[in-house]
Amino acid sequence: MSRSERKWDHIRYALENRQNPSSAFDDIKFIHQGLPDIGVFDVGLDHEIGGLYLSSPIFINAMTGGGGDKTYRINKELAIVAKNTGLTMAVGSQMAALKDKTQKYTYEIVRKENPAGVIIANLGSEASSEDAKAAIEMIEADALQIHLNVIQELTMPEGDRNFSGALKRIESIVKEIAVPVIVKEVGFGMAKETVHSLISIGVKMVDVGGSGGTNFAEIENKRREKALSFFNQWGTPTGISILEAASVSNNLSVIGSGGLRSAHDIAKGLAIGADAIGMAGYFLKILVKEGIEALQSEIENLHEELKLIMTALGAKNVSDLKKAPLVISGETYHWLNQRGID
Ligand code: FNR
Repeated sequence: MSRSERKWDHIRYALENRQNPSSAFDDIKFIHQGLPDIGVFDVGLDHEIGGLYLSSPIFINAMTGGGGDKTYRINKELAIVAKNTGLTMAVGSQMAALKDKTQKYTYEIVRKENPAGVIIANLGSEASSEDAKAAIEMIEADALQIHLNVIQELTMPEGDRNFSGALKRIESIVKEIAVPVIVKEVGFGMAKETVHSLISIGVKMVDVGGSGGTNFAEIENKRREKALSFFNQWGTPTGISILEAASVSNNLSVIGSGGLRSAHDIAKGLAIGADAIGMAGYFLKILVKEGIEALQSEIENLHEELKLIMTALGAKNVSDLKKAPLVISGETYHWLNQRGID
């Protein structure tokens, strides 16, 4: 099976992928404030994160690597949506286009459609600093995501089996490239130990990519004769992952992603420590099933609802939202206790 066929399987299965209904966000509750002392028009969604100036804390997370005409079409449509809604967009893994230059057009279209937008390049942790420079140049990227996907690779019949040296390679990328580097997970979450290691080599931004949304173990298991079903339950829920990562350092920018699909979850993610929120599978489903306009109106709807929630909490901006009073109960409370996270 070719790389682009495999990646198309990912899209097909991701569209069927059921979301985990119980997420750590249910354990988080805002405490109502009767005197917010602001109006809806006082609320602004623009936010600075790690040197990137975003008009919205929501961004379109990495999807559609692999090249081919289907990747081209989805990238083009996502880029149009990103431009029209002002959202930042990460492309899927560009390794296919580094290995086969004829595939570059499937990514270049993103910059062509959105010349002034904030666009993020994407590669895996097998990439060298030369690969990183080429991926950034390909789409004139404003930042680079390096994804960690150990569980996906282990579940994939033809996946990698050796994960040695990833931290060293990431370190050389951080040292040699000029744009911010975001190290991200792909739906299994990020523990504070991982974040500590990343900070020790100079990483300043992580995307926790927690569980509760697109599940790459389930997706890859569908392609196996004998499923590794234990990996289907693997991973740390997104809310908990945000709390783990945010507990490590005040100088770290944290992106929350994995299974977010409502303004309420987005507000909670920002309030517990995320500086931005990435959404992948939910946006892809709307785009493929209902089209560009439906996705644009859902993003506008999320912005409207987020502003209403922020108004209720008296938060004029994302920084204020981080001070909103909330309580954490249930499994998330116990998790934080055992892990020594305040
Ligand atoms: C992804 N994701 C992903 N991530 C990455 O860093 N590089 C990639 O090439 C891809 N490819 C990809 C394809 C498809 C079809 C999907 C749905 C997702 C992972 C994505 O960025 C995100 O981390 C996870 O999907 C979890 O977020 P959601 O989908 O639950 O919002």
